[in-house]
Amino acid sequence: MNWVDGFSVANWVIVFQSFLIASLLLILWIYLPMFWGAPWIPIGLRTADRMLRMADVQPGQTVIDLGAGDGRMVILAARKYKARAKGVEIDPLRVLAANLSIGILGLRGKAYVRWENLHMFDFTGADVVTLFLMQGTNQTLKDRLEKTLRPGAKVVSHLFSMSGWTPVALDDRRGIFVYEIGNTTGEIETKFY
Ligand SMILES: C[S@@+](CC[C@H](N)C(=O)[O-])C[C@H]1O[C@@H](n2cnc3c(N)ncnc32)[C@H](O)[C@@H]1O
Repeated sequence: MNWVDGFSVANWVIVFQSFLIASLLLILWIYLPMFWGAPWIPIGLRTADRMLRMADVQPGQTVIDLGAGDGRMVILAARKYKARAKGVEIDPLRVLAANLSIGILGLRGKAYVRWENLHMFDFTGADVVTLFLMQGTNQTLKDRLEKTLRPGAKVVSHLFSMSGWTPVALDDRRGIFVYEIGNTTGEIETKFY
């Protein structure tokens, strides 16, 4: 008799229930943050790189990722662009994973992700703010970004625009919108396809 035959119906029911519960928890883990700002959909690394390049991030500048997920944008900004990179993330497990990766990659002191609600986070002093959230969340951030950031600071959003602002640069193919504080009503200066 093999182990499959030895498994009673009751055991199979337990396995099936555990699988259902695990799947449900996984779905909740991904989609629950939607109610605070956006679900967890990790950005493609090429798109993240393109966003930082389009924002013209310079060494020593402060880059803040609002809704940092597993910290990939923060890590890229610190590692490749030598920026001081910060992130804010509402999910504690993702914060843990992000800061573990930051530690393993030797970026402690140059990058970190804080466990906090982005709606409470103080992004004063940022040179570049990156967003991969949702349209409604972007809208609620517009006022605060405009009041808090210095003129010339960049706001770069993936997939969702800041409706009412004109981007200074746009990548239609990847869905990247670059905005400049103090210059949100002019013309689109650069278009990428
Ligand atoms: C679409 S993912 C983007 C993750 C990351 N920026 C990237 O590019 O890979 C959005 C992230 O925002 C986080 N989030 C949603 N609402 C938030 C809030 N109110 N405060 C902080 N983080 C939030 C989610 O948990 C999720 O990890």
